[in-house]
Amino acid sequence: MEERLQKYMAECGVGSRRKCEEWIAQGLVKVNGEVVSEMGTRIDPEKDEVVFRGKVLKISQPLTTVMLNKPAGYVTTSRDQFHRPDVTQLIDMPGVRLYPVGRLDYQTTGLLLLTNDGDLAYRLTHPARQVEKVYRAYLSGEITHEAVKMLESGVVLDDGYKTQPAKVSVLSVKGGNTKIDITITEGKNHQVRRMAKAVGFPVMRLKRIQEGSLKLGSLKEGSYRILSEAEIEKLKNEA
Ligand code: URA
Repeated sequence: MEERLQKYMAECGVGSRRKCEEWIAQGLVKVNGEVVSEMGTRIDPEKDEVVFRGKVLKISQPLTTVMLNKPAGYVTTSRDQFHRPDVTQLIDMPGVRLYPVGRLDYQTTGLLLLTNDGDLAYRLTHPARQVEKVYRAYLSGEITHEAVKMLESGVVLDDGYKTQPAKVSVLSVKGGNTKIDITITEGKNHQVRRMAKAVGFPVMRLKRIQEGSLKLGSLKEGSYRILSEAEIEKLKNEA
C-alpha cells in the first residue's frame, strides 16, 4: 500500500516525520536511485527502495498482536472501493503497522486480531487448519429443532458448497427472534450469514466472541488490547 515518504521513513525509525520532511527537502533521500525533494511523494514500501544517507531503509518492528472489538461500520480490507473507514484506523500505535487476520463483514462486530506477525496470521488463516470461531448471532424468526440439526450437520450454501458441521447452542427463542452461539472452523465469505439464511432464519446481528481459546470478554466496542506472549503461543499451538 502506498504511503507518504516521510511517514515511511518515520516508521523505519530514522526520525520524526517533521525531521524526515526536512531531510527530504534537503535532497538527502533517494527513491529508486533518484533524489526526491518534493513533499507530496508517495511510495510503496514493498516495491520502492528508499535510501537515506547511503542506507536502504527497512521497517524493523517488534512483533505485536492486538485483539480489537470491531464496531459495525468498518471494513477489514485496506482497499475498499467505497472508501469506508477501515479497522486499522482504530489502532493508535505510531510506527507499528498491523494487518487484520482474516475478515469480518462491514456490519459484523467483535473479536478481530491484528498483527505484524506473519507466522501467526498464516497459521490462523490457513484453510486446512483453522481454529474454532464462535459467533453470537441474532436471527429473525424462532428457530426450529430441524434448522438447528441442519446447521449441526452441515448446510449447502447458495453456491452449492456444503459447510462442515457447526456447533450450535440456542440461548433464547422469544418474540419472533432467536439468539444462538454458533461455532465454525471454516472462513468462507459471509459464512454464518449464508448458513443462517440457508436454513430460513436470517442474521440480524452478528458478533464474533471467541477465536480458539481467546475470548473477547469485556473489551468495549472500538477498544483493543495487546495480547501477551502466552496468549500468542497458545493460539499458535491451537492453529
Ligand atoms: N460469518 C459472516 O457471515 N460474517 C462475518 O463477518 C464472519 C463470519
